[in-house]
Amino acid sequence: MRIAIYPGSFDPVTLGHLNIIKRASAIFDKVIVCVLVNSGKKGLFEPEERVELIRRVASGLANVEVDYSTELLASYAKKKKAKVLVKGLRAMSDYEQEVQMAIINSKLYPNLDTVFLPSSPKYTYLSSSVVKEMARYGVDLTDFLPREIIKDVKLKTETEEKQEGAAE
Ligand code: PNS
Repeated sequence: MRIAIYPGSFDPVTLGHLNIIKRASAIFDKVIVCVLVNSGKKGLFEPEERVELIRRVASGLANVEVDYSTELLASYAKKKKAKVLVKGLRAMSDYEQEVQMAIINSKLYPNLDTVFLPSSPKYTYLSSSVVKEMARYGVDLTDFLPREIIKDVKLKTETEEKQEGAAE
């Protein structure tokens, strides 16, 4: 069975991520979307909440599983007997860092390879960070997020703003 892992922060999952999940699920027998810790990013959603949001939007894809791990990605892949990592590439600016991660991951687990899927042109500009910024300014998120999670993102952003306001 060809098992692939699609790792990321997914804070929150965007239409760009969902596009990659769907395309990967058509290529591999099983795709594990795994929420992992990116030590360089501060989160809006807790990891368990991110998992729940991804499960909701990917519920129609029978060969997609969603998980959360605090492990090193290479160790997680080994444990899951996966030999492929899937990454979406939006622009050349993603390329350098993604290739560096791919090489490190294959050094840590030599059987592990990384497959890059070019982002759909519709979503090359899209990132979770941009979505969070737009949510803070009350922009309509229909073109950026799966409709099932728009309310959650708005609510979470408002709650965070209230908490920040109270702390000042
Ligand atoms: O969506 P992101 O933030 O670009 O995803 C980055 C992520 C979470 C895939 C990366 O930070 C990661 O793999 N974290 C797990 C820890 C790890 O294995 N780090 C070494 C990678 S070179």
